[in-house]
Amino acid sequence: MDLAQVIFLTFPGILPDRTNRIEDIYLRFYNGNTLNEYVDLPLHQVTRLFEIKGFDNGNPTVIYIHGFIETAQQESVQVMVNSYLEARPDINVILLDWSNMSHGSYLLNAARNTKKVGVAVAAQLNRLIETGLVLEKLQIIGHSLGSHVAGYLSRELKNKYNKTVKRLTALDPAFPAFYPDGVVMEHVTDKDAEFVDVIHTDAGGYGAPVRTGTADFWPNGGKSVQPGCPRFAPIPLSDDNLCSHWRSWQFYAESIRNPEAFAASPADSYHKFRENPSPEVGMVYMGANCDTSAQGSYYLTTNAESPFGKGIDGIYSKNKNSKGKKL
Ligand SMILES: *[C@@H]1O[C@H](CO)[C@@H](O)[C@H](O)[C@H]1NC(C)=O
Ligand SMILES: *[C@@H]1O[C@H](CO)[C@@H](O)[C@H](O)[C@H]1NC(C)=O
Repeated sequence: MDLAQVIFLTFPGILPDRTNRIEDIYLRFYNGNTLNEYVDLPLHQVTRLFEIKGFDNGNPTVIYIHGFIETAQQESVQVMVNSYLEARPDINVILLDWSNMSHGSYLLNAARNTKKVGVAVAAQLNRLIETGLVLEKLQIIGHSLGSHVAGYLSRELKNKYNKTVKRLTALDPAFPAFYPDGVVMEHVTDKDAEFVDVIHTDAGGYGAPVRTGTADFWPNGGKSVQPGCPRFAPIPLSDDNLCSHWRSWQFYAESIRNPEAFAASPADSYHKFRENPSPEVGMVYMGANCDTSAQGSYYLTTNAESPFGKGIDGIYSKNKNSKGKKL
């Protein structure tokens, strides 16, 4: 975080407040093939989900949770949801819309709301699970502040309702107020679900500075400036300034369409990864197709623009001119 970012995230009034009520949270289930086909369910009416045409409880369900000052119209939401609708019509895709509570001052309002939202949504998800939603087929994905909503939500489901989420995916979980753990807020951890995979793309900036899941992925070293992002981007929360942070959902969305786009290699550091003569040992895929037995840190390189995935070449990064070896 630089000073401009900290000031911007703290002072209320710079960003407009919206209503700040649990009643304004809803689940948006996309029940067609496009972003324009959806049904919005207020939180206390979640069990109506089973009545909606297009919801198939035999299929996997993904709940996506957006970040700070985001809405359903945000590019991150649209790109993620579209990838599922187009590439994985067999998956039920649901947006947790907490947009109103994600507005206002980051430190004084939105960050604190992650707990309130997580706890409130857990109570309703518990009802949904009790009335039939298959817990084993549920994946929760959060971006930035949404990762910590996912953390509080899964922790509450586990501790209060004895229901452990199978897979929680955190896309560059937000740094300010959540690290170090418990000083202000508690961050998402590997204990919140059976498997927690994390993609770091702006570590120490907008994103978590340290390992935070069961398997942590550090594309291009995991930090700003990610390839293709501008070096000079001084305006906090501008698209250029968020470029590295946003790579996390861009990579994930690409992995939904191309599950083998991001081969990743286990290593203790980016340096060791780059020195490793046999990076294919222990290789797993980052993103949608991630092997849930993965553990520890994984590294890879990506392209500077879409398509970002280099496939297996992403782990043979040492010699930039080589096409990479075949496995
Ligand atoms: C969110 O806040 C706005 C502005 O205060 C309000 O008009 C709206 O009804 C609220 N609720 C939802 C679900 O957007
Ligand atoms: C919690 O859930 C597990 C798995 O469903 C079950 O075996 C266990 O008995 C439950 N514990 C409590 C205290 O309800």
